[in-house]
Amino acid sequence: LSLFSASAGAAGYPERQITMVVPFAAGGPTDTVARLVAESMSKDLGQQIVVENVGGAGGTLGAGRVAKAQADGYTILLHHIGMATSATLYRKLAYDTLKDFDYVGLVTDVPMTIVARKDMEATDLKGLVDYAKANKDKVTVANAGIGAASHLCGMLFMSSIQTPLVTVPYKGTGPAMTDLLGGQVDIMCDQTTNTTKQIQGGTIKAYAVTSAERLDVLKDLPTVKEAGMPDMSVGIWHGVYVPKGTPKEATEKLTKSLKVALKDQNVAARFAELGTKPSSDSDATPEALKAKLEGEIARWKPVIQAAGQYAD
Ligand code: MLT
Repeated sequence: LSLFSASAGAAGYPERQITMVVPFAAGGPTDTVARLVAESMSKDLGQQIVVENVGGAGGTLGAGRVAKAQADGYTILLHHIGMATSATLYRKLAYDTLKDFDYVGLVTDVPMTIVARKDMEATDLKGLVDYAKANKDKVTVANAGIGAASHLCGMLFMSSIQTPLVTVPYKGTGPAMTDLLGGQVDIMCDQTTNTTKQIQGGTIKAYAVTSAERLDVLKDLPTVKEAGMPDMSVGIWHGVYVPKGTPKEATEKLTKSLKVALKDQNVAARFAELGTKPSSDSDATPEALKAKLEGEIARWKPVIQAAGQYAD
């Protein structure tokens, strides 16, 4: 009967609201991307996609929640590069990254910015590096836990300057930004989806962007390459996943709806204001996301092993 109901349900899918798990706290970059996409997909599907923030353990708690959820298309995960880095960072995960999920598609690839509290003395990236080296026992670097994009970027920064700094983990870089604005934490590497408005408003200081080219919305911000730290070039790609075994009719409808959302003028406009853009039609596919995840696990594994920054 269950097989029948699952396939029957998928035929009329979706018949009720869908939960989109965001594995970080509300108000951060992942949440921002998720809510924009969820709102547009809801309209297209005719069913509400409700975002549920499940923070903790650098995104692996939320990913684990979805890995264990009913494979019926009513629980989906929006996650980013951390899905790949966590596969190496965590020696024991509550899920198997490559076996416990099916794929919907890629969503967007967001640049990161190296930022600091607004009264940080350094006026350029070299000055920030000198300051960090000279104060390594007290300079604090915020991140969203081991496995977060901010963790990866912070790790690249510390590896590049060959200086370990004091890291302060949060459930997301939404809450971390509150402390950066208040001066309670010194430095952060965070996605433009969370930092663009603050940089433009002068409430935090920015030193570089990790994209290959400068951003239209942050024209004065040099790239890490221009600023002399090319190894910090990294893009935070985001994808939508479902539990393994979700009926094909459901995943196909989700992929189709994701493509519609990525063509939504409002989504594209908001992404542009935040320094990013929607993934292309050919990237918003299960095959593209699967290839990206597998390729990125392989790419970051040696970098993480060299940095030796494991969880637990
Ligand atoms: C990250 O660092 O992975 C994200 O910024 C976390 C978040 O979305 O809060």
